[in-house]
Amino acid sequence: MFLHRTRSSVVFVLFILGAASLAAGQNSSCPLDFSVLQPFRRPRPDGATTCQYLLQGLRLLYSQHLRQTGSFLPPPDSAASCWAALQSAIAGFLPRFDVRSTCGFETPWISEGCMNITARSQFEAQIPNSTLRTAVMRCNLSLESNTPCASCTQSLSAFQAYLTGPSVGNVSDCAAFPSIYAAAYANMYGPTDKGTAKCLFQLDLASSSSGNGKKFKILVSLSVLLVASALITACFWYYRRKRRYLKRRSLEADRRQTQTQTQSRLDSMSESTTLVKFSFEEIKKATDNFSRHNIIGRGGYGNVFKGVLADGSEVAFKRFKNCSAGGDATFAHEVEVIASIRHVHLLALRGYCTATTPYEGHQRIIVCDLVSNGSLHDHLFGGFNSQLAWPLRQRIALGMARGLAYLHYGAQPSIIHRDIKASNILLDQTFEAKVADFGLAKFNPEGMTHMSTRVAGTMGYVAPEYALYGQLTEKSDVYSFGVVLLELLSRRKAIVTEEETGQPVSVADWAWSLVRQGQTLDVVEDGMPEKGSPEVMEKYVLIAVLCSHPQLHARPTMDQVVKMLESNDFTVISIPQRPIPLVACRDEIDRSVSSSSGGSGKLTSPTGYQAFSFGGDAHAHAHAHAHAHGPHHR
Ligand SMILES: *[C@@H]1O[C@H](CO)[C@@H](O)[C@H](O)[C@H]1NC(C)=O
Ligand SMILES: *[C@@H]1O[C@H](CO)[C@@H](O)[C@H](O)[C@H]1NC(C)=O
Ligand SMILES: *[C@@H]1O[C@H](CO)[C@@H](O)[C@H](O)[C@H]1NC(C)=O
Ligand SMILES: *[C@@H]1O[C@H](CO)[C@@H](O)[C@H](O)[C@H]1NC(C)=O
Ligand SMILES: *[C@@H]1O[C@H](CO)[C@@H](O)[C@H](O)[C@H]1NC(C)=O
Repeated sequence: MFLHRTRSSVVFVLFILGAASLAAGQNSSCPLDFSVLQPFRRPRPDGATTCQYLLQGLRLLYSQHLRQTGSFLPPPDSAASCWAALQSAIAGFLPRFDVRSTCGFETPWISEGCMNITARSQFEAQIPNSTLRTAVMRCNLSLESNTPCASCTQSLSAFQAYLTGPSVGNVSDCAAFPSIYAAAYANMYGPTDKGTAKCLFQLDLASSSSGNGKKFKILVSLSVLLVASALITACFWYYRRKRRYLKRRSLEADRRQTQTQTQSRLDSMSESTTLVKFSFEEIKKATDNFSRHNIIGRGGYGNVFKGVLADGSEVAFKRFKNCSAGGDATFAHEVEVIASIRHVHLLALRGYCTATTPYEGHQRIIVCDLVSNGSLHDHLFGGFNSQLAWPLRQRIALGMARGLAYLHYGAQPSIIHRDIKASNILLDQTFEAKVADFGLAKFNPEGMTHMSTRVAGTMGYVAPEYALYGQLTEKSDVYSFGVVLLELLSRRKAIVTEEETGQPVSVADWAWSLVRQGQTLDVVEDGMPEKGSPEVMEKYVLIAVLCSHPQLHARPTMDQVVKMLESNDFTVISIPQRPIPLVACRDEIDRSVSSSSGGSGKLTSPTGYQAFSFGGDAHAHAHAHAHAHGPHHR
């Protein structure tokens, strides 16, 4: 009997193997185990997110595969059978859904990914040991609740800076690899764990939406109702007879508490996976009751405190002044949007708090990562009192530009910062820039009240068209970026009052006048350590002058700025003529007229570089082009 059964199962296994090899032909079979996805929620057949869901599922499988075999990707010759296996795995609930044609994936992409990395060691070789260690430390615990999840994903976002090589396709590109790695090796529970899958792959378990689950829920709620009504009836009679009002009141209080508990659980379910809603008590404790010693920043909107959360992590709390409970819903929504945007060069928002307290009034607080090395403003004009070397300035400039370009073109939805200034550019220990406060300017009660209530921003950094007409576009951020870049290069504040004339002069006008006189390199701070090559420094100055051009059509986009800063060929950047500054004197007007009409206004570079092509509207509205450059290198 026993023998017989064994033999039949051997025959069965052989049959399966035979069928599989027959079906696969010369293909090798897919090593991914699709049954792992069984317990997870399934996508709706017509959902716009179906492709995204399938991607997340695939990445979870990659992670499981990595954990078991040490290899990120299935071998290239199994690509066709992996797609076939995926098709049959979803056939039950997504019939007639052709994954590749619907989602725009190409067959080889399932076995190709980031920078040709396949083995664990190849991946680890890309990432500095300390960054890896931090991630393992922060991700090696249950990621089911928000705080550890946010802290883990935050540490993983640091990997992106080292995975800048080319990706093939979008099935498992470089953006996906850190999560795949962390779920496989950093987290002790592995990718199939409920919390890990939810945090790193945004996949929920199916129980709540399956038919059985629903029936069970209905049964439970029915019986709860029955029991509750029986209880209430019993209590009613009991109290009526005994007239013990005190006890009744305490029962009611209990019930209310359960109600609020249920409500808050509902609240936290609707939150995004990374955003935490902190309680006011928690924040009070973390900041030592908003102790003055913990203040790390002051502004019109309120103060910024540093503090330590219960899990030991250091964070910054930004506490808004004079809030009313009115806009809380909008505020919470905005914060949720902002928190969903993550990038190495953007300050991560961890959570927020809204509360009404008897003594302190209504409270709105946002919670961000603490960045330890102060702001760019501190380094240029504040207490640090040391000159930044050129390589650091270059790194800061690139970081700011990348962060803003992501805000404009990478983030969903895209965000206009509105309040870029040196004190909103934070620096970490290695002088990587992190752009802070994006999207929050509209909540600052005292934006720029002396100009217009429509305008949020800071004197000296606001683009003219935004300040004058309230016209807000991405190009307003480009203007402010140009001003900060000029500050970074020259260590001169956005607005300086000239000693001789008593006139305020913006750094943008000052830099432009030097560039026009052919003294481009005089914009760069004197005596800066480790000077760069004149061509590179000149390029940076010209980019900054172009970004802070008063006409928005002349400014490049942040994407173009990143490309220009990164590129190694020194192209002369042509800067469209500027309109006359508002405070210009008569002789300056004469000079500018003669320089744009006379042939001498057109300067050429000694090496005769090609003009930079913006491929867009950069020149469309320019009346005259002055090819600006700095022939007189100091
Ligand atoms: C590999 O398998 C897929 C699906 O199973 C099939 O469409 C394809 O023709 C096979 N390729 C070869 C070379 O056998
Ligand atoms: C993947 O890339 C292709 C081509 O670049 C695109 O058509 C498709 O929409 C992308 N799919 C997803 C889910 O991003
Ligand atoms: C990846 O591999 C392909 C083919 O083997 C090769 O052409 C390409 O240069 C490699 N890319 C990287 C970044 O190593
Ligand atoms: C990182 O760790 C690996 C393996 O533990 C070691 O070989 C390598 O030298 C370390 N690198 C640094 C910069 O510490
Ligand atoms: C994660 O923590 C567990 C238990 O504390 C430990 O056994 C394991 O080695 C840790 N994993 C890593 C990758 O450090």
